[in-house]
Formats: sequence, structure tokens, C-alpha cells
Amino acid sequence: MPKKLYLETFGCQMNVLDSELVLGQLRAQGFESTEERDQADVVIYNTCSVREHAEQKVWSRLGELRETKREKPDLIIGVIGCMAEREGKSIFQRFPHVDILCGPGELDKLPRMVHNAVVTSPSVVGETLVSPSLNSRETEDDTSVAPTKGRQVALMGATSRRSSTLAAAEDTLELLDLSRSVSASDEVSQAYVRITRGCNKFCTYCVVPYTRGLEVHRPPQNIIDEVRKLVDAGTREVTLLGQTINHYNYRHGDGRTTSFAELLYEIHEAMPDLPRLRFVTSFPRDFSDEALQAMRDCKRICRYLHVPAQHGNDRILKLMNRGYTVAEYTDFLGRARAYMPDISVASDFIVGFPTETDAEFQQTMDLVKRCRFKNSFIFKYSPRPGTTAIDRFVDDVPEDVKRRRNNDLLAVQQQICGETSREMIGQTVEVMVEGESKLVSRHAAALSRIELGWEKRAEQQALPDDSERQTQLVGRTRGDLVVCFQGSLSLKGQILDVQVTDARGMTLFAQPVSEPALA
Ligand code: 5AD
Ligand code: SF4
Repeated sequence: MPKKLYLETFGCQMNVLDSELVLGQLRAQGFESTEERDQADVVIYNTCSVREHAEQKVWSRLGELRETKREKPDLIIGVIGCMAEREGKSIFQRFPHVDILCGPGELDKLPRMVHNAVVTSPSVVGETLVSPSLNSRETEDDTSVAPTKGRQVALMGATSRRSSTLAAAEDTLELLDLSRSVSASDEVSQAYVRITRGCNKFCTYCVVPYTRGLEVHRPPQNIIDEVRKLVDAGTREVTLLGQTINHYNYRHGDGRTTSFAELLYEIHEAMPDLPRLRFVTSFPRDFSDEALQAMRDCKRICRYLHVPAQHGNDRILKLMNRGYTVAEYTDFLGRARAYMPDISVASDFIVGFPTETDAEFQQTMDLVKRCRFKNSFIFKYSPRPGTTAIDRFVDDVPEDVKRRRNNDLLAVQQQICGETSREMIGQTVEVMVEGESKLVSRHAAALSRIELGWEKRAEQQALPDDSERQTQLVGRTRGDLVVCFQGSLSLKGQILDVQVTDARGMTLFAQPVSEPALA
């Protein structure tokens, strides 16, 4: 019987990609994935530490498993990702039923760790014990805590965060990306491909440079090979990922470099059959004219940028260590819009950063009004252990003020979204169909659960002609706008033209006007 794996992912797209790669490796090792935690032999949480709220969700999941582990002592529980790296072995103190800790910089070791944990679980301990030495900087078999079980720990540790040359030289993690396998049954129409890992910016509020390490740039050929593998398997939209993606600049062995702009041209040229290429997340200061020109010149690169501004006041930007002023940010936006008047731009903002006054917050409101972003992701400042901000500043903006500022900024952004969405009514836009709209699928899932309970005929839920059923579909434009329209589920993964007929908030409603483009 294959062992069953339940893997839940929290946080950013980088984590989604990590989970996909880890799942691929564990499947190759014989695991079968399950969506039912109760049926799993191995439960893994891929975690996020960016805000406290994201961590709390994982703490409560781990709490729920305490009793389960008592009843099922062979159950293997793993915490991977940023929380594992940030919290380290203190997780074992709080939750002694956790077996595996693996930071995001060590995920290539995870299959081996899971294997070790399984073969040393209570019912099989005493059988073959795979060498626990995982060949990692701080990897160890923590026998002092549980001598019979040998907990599996792989963390990057503080030392390797300090030197980017060390991080690059020891980049065994590249093996994880290179291991990517795509099988015919996989849902591949949209895929993420990493081009950089980690971050060198050290914004004072952010844990990422500590949890994911310093920036490492992947060799262009490896990136292109991975994109080709995906396109050959049917991928129609590739999103390149990096924490500050436009900072990409790969130094080859002979001293030549490949800039971000050159990489974009190379991928675009090498992949004439890829209809959509996009990338996130950009850093305002590093955007060269060449990269903007590449976006303008390469027709299949989507005209969408996610460039977090974070704040509308220079003093706060300085406290955040962002390395640019508001004027520099708006200059950049002006340049981007001069090259591509139709570009769609999204931003992130933090409200309630320590010492932020009402007047300074108003400047963030003004910036959002002036920039007319397609969307803003708005976050209340969350002090994170290990960051400079938590040591240097008192979290002195009261929670109710943070909440009010959050709501005020959201209202301004929503008004802009409403206005820009309504301007699109009547226009024809190209959408990539992502699947059934969430509202509809939630309704369908609830119905199927009820029917299952009544009739207990699980197989009959998946009718063979289900893909032909007309339903409310959801797709995305090249500018990342969400569009809903009626169509058959078989259109999933296709690219087609629709005409916008209505707009509500950030969502557009449309009618199809063309057959799917097969290019
Ligand atoms: N508190 C609130 N928001 C944060 N972000 C990062 N760190 C914090 C924090 N400590 C936000 C930033 C970033 C996004 C991914 O999360 O806006 O762009
Ligand atoms: Fe965090 Fe700043 Fe790096 Fe973004 S650029 S990941 S906010 S440190």
C-alpha cells in the first residue's frame, strides 16, 4: 500500500512552487497525495512567517494533531518552510509530536528526511535505519530529544545567511528545481518557475532574508530548460518567480553576465509556443529601462507588474530601509507607463508601521489615489521576531488605528478598482481560463458532500461528461484582472477572447466572443 501524504501550503507563490516540487519528489518516492488529513500517513505543513497571523494558523493545525498522534503514533508530522527556519527546534519543545523540520533553503533534503522518519517510526523502528547524515550545513539527527525516533532537522542556520558567496556555492537547492517532473496527468496549463531565491534587501520589517537566505540567481540555461519542459507538457502561462525578480543578473563562469532584460528576451525567443509569460515580484529601485523595453518588445510577455511601494512617506520608507523615495517610485511608474500605456500595476502597502502618524498615513492614501493601481495588497504591520524593526522600534500604532487605516486604504483602492473595471465595459479582452469560479465550485462541493452523505455513491459524482457542463468560469486577463463568464469546464487552461459586459468591484463579467486560440 503506498503511503499517503497530506501537504498544506500557506503563504506566497514561492511556497506554492516549493510544495509542488516537494510533492513531485515524494510521489517519485512512492507517496500518494491525499486531501484528507485523517487518512494521511505523513502530514506536512509548508509554512509562512511574513505575518503573525499566518503562523497562528499553523500553530492551531499542529495543536489539532496532538491527539491524532497519540492515537496514531506512526503518523509523521513535518513543518517545512519559513516557520521551520525561523522557529527552529523550539517547535519541538512546543509540539513534541512534530518529527520533521526543514527550512526553505534545505528542501532538497526533504525526501530523505521523510524516508528516515518513516523507517524510524515506532512500528518499524529496529528495521533498516537509513543514515541520518543529510549532508547539510546544520542538518542533524536530533537524537538528544528523542533517542529512538531520530527527529529530522535541516535548517540553513544563521551562518550561511551572512555570505552570499557561501549561499551560491552551496546551492544544492538547485537540485530541487532541476528535479521537476511533469506527468501527463498533472494540471500544467499555468506554472511557476523560480529564477532567483532569497533576498538581499533587508527591509526592516521582513523575515524573508533570514528565512530564505541571501539572493541566489539560477543559471539561465536551467531556467530555459525548465520552461521548455513545461511548455512541452502543455503549459500555456509561465510565471517567473523571485522575491526581487528584476534584480536578476547571472554571472557566468567566464565573467559574462545575463541581465533580467536579457533573460526575458531569451525565454521569449526560445519559447515561441508559450502564449503568456509573466513575472513577480519586482523591486522599484532595480527596474532598468532595458527590462521595460523587453516587456514592451516581447508581445507574449504580459503587461502586468507587481511592484510593492509599501508606503507613501519618505521618512517611513527610510525606516523600512526600502532604499527609494516616493518621488523615485512615481518616476519609475511614469517610465513604465510611458513605455507601455496599457500596463497594469499592483502594489503592496503596510499600514501602522511604528511611529506612522495620521498625516504620514494620508500620504500613502494620496499615493494610491495618484498611482491608480490595478490592485493593492494591504497589510497591518506585524512585528516579526528576528527583524531589525522589532528590535529598533516600538510597535506603537494601536491595533484599532491600524485596522482603521487598513480599512480606509482598502476603501480608496476599491473605489479605484470599481472605476477602472467599469471603464472596461464593452472592451474585448483575452482571458486564460483558470477553472470554475470559486463561488460556484464551493456550492458544488457543498452539494456533492450532501449527496455523498445521502447516497454514499462517491464514484457517481464524477460523471464522464462533467467537463461539458456549463458553469460560471473564472479567467485572468494579461493585466491580471479577474473575469467571470459562462462556459464549459472543458475550456479550463484555454485562452480566448471575451467581451466585458459588467463590472462589480474588482471582478469583470463577460461573454465569450471567440473560440479558444490554439497558438
Ligand atoms: N508586517 C506586515 N506586512 C508585511 N509584509 C512583509 N513583512 C510584513 C510585516 N512584518 C508585507 C509586505 C510585502 C508582502 C509580501 O507582505 O507588504 O510586500
Ligand atoms: Fe522582504 Fe524587502 Fe526582500 Fe521584499 S524586498 S522579500 S519586503 S526584505
